[in-house]
Amino acid sequence: MERELTIKYSIFDNIYELPYKIQKLMEEAIKARENAYATYSGFKVGAAVLLENGEICIGSNQENAAYPSGLCAERVAVYQASARFPKQVIKAIALTGTAQEPTQYPVSPCGACRQSISEYEIRQKENINVYFMGASGKIIKTESIKDLLPFLFDGSLL
Ligand code: THU
Repeated sequence: MERELTIKYSIFDNIYELPYKIQKLMEEAIKARENAYATYSGFKVGAAVLLENGEICIGSNQENAAYPSGLCAERVAVYQASARFPKQVIKAIALTGTAQEPTQYPVSPCGACRQSISEYEIRQKENINVYFMGASGKIIKTESIKDLLPFLFDGSLL
């Protein structure tokens, strides 16, 4: 039997179209991106996580001479959020990424980051809204990380 999956997403033309709190969140992600340590790839990514108590945890990609030892911006941000505020629900994550030449193409989280974010969404039993953007320009939003990771690996099977 063949089945089909569809995902819903929204598009915002620029950060000023976003709800105010998310606009501020994306601005934090942009600041974080500017401080990324991306000395090898030159591709800078910034992420900002919004918690239920209003706290924001930021992350940027951290590269390393031993390439696989580096970490993506999203994981720096969500791991920081879980370490500092282990009981807080994560409401949203905003992400922005660009090569040296600014791209307008929305940069979406890599597969490993999707899996990492899904761990927290499953744990808290509440959706995490995901917003992603290039250097500037259009922003894509999904209601849940699950929209970006169909058939995700669910730890409850362990
Ligand atoms: N990167 C992120 O920070 N997040 C992603 O979702 C995709 C990739 C980083 C990793 C590496 O430092 C650089 O972008 C190029 O892959």
